[in-house]
Amino acid sequence: MIVVRSARNTDASKIASVHVETWKEAYAGLLDGGFLDSMTASRMTRHWRKALDEKRRNLDDAIFVAATEKDVVGFVTISACRDVFAPWEAEITMLYVLDEYRGAGIGRALMKSVADHALARGMFSGGLWVLRDNLHARGFYEALGGDRCGRKMDTVGGRTVPLVGYSWSEIASLAERTVPQPFRIRKAG
Ligand SMILES: CC(C)(COP(=O)(O)OP(=O)(O)OC[C@H]1O[C@@H](n2cnc3c(N)ncnc32)[C@H](O)[C@@H]1OP(=O)(O)O)[C@@H](O)C(=O)NCCC(=O)NCCS
Repeated sequence: MIVVRSARNTDASKIASVHVETWKEAYAGLLDGGFLDSMTASRMTRHWRKALDEKRRNLDDAIFVAATEKDVVGFVTISACRDVFAPWEAEITMLYVLDEYRGAGIGRALMKSVADHALARGMFSGGLWVLRDNLHARGFYEALGGDRCGRKMDTVGGRTVPLVGYSWSEIASLAERTVPQPFRIRKAG
């Protein structure tokens, strides 16, 4: 069974594996190929160990995973927005679900978990940046009621890429959405 729960320190290497696998697949052709090839789960494990450690000190930060008893199949991260020009208080900084688990309601459940977290921390609006050409993810955010707001250029993996913003002026609208349970998995691992 897959549950969505707060990430634990022992999840670092499993989150890293999902991070590397989803980036290589979802961002092929969108980000620099050499950069994607250079991504390794061992290097990312160090990054995630640090992030999991830091979130214990900064309670506005949160990491949730969708996990079976043994494996992580998706994750999401949120923080208080550090950009004074962004029109949202809480920023959803990463959201990734393994390909074979997509379309089952897991992305929606992860978005609900960060919305619940934001509300509990007194952050009432939320938003994120997504690659302009990541049409699949943009369709997902639009299906969840995100309002397109703003655009910017940023450097990701050594390449300057266009991003577009999506916002939820009331993040409660994400928290209120129901999540199908159990998840409708196409192919369980
Ligand atoms: C984007 C992503 C997180 C969505 O997760 P998911 O688990 O597949 O999404 P869900 O199954 O929870 O979908 C929730 C709803 O959005 C809808 N939806 C999902 N993708 C959609 C799309 N491209 N266009 C329109 N609607 C979409 C679903 O139909 C579903 O609606 P329903 O519950 O009424 O049937 C996932 O596809 C992913 O990891 N993609 C690759 C990585 C990526 O691009 N991440 C975002 C980086 S900014």
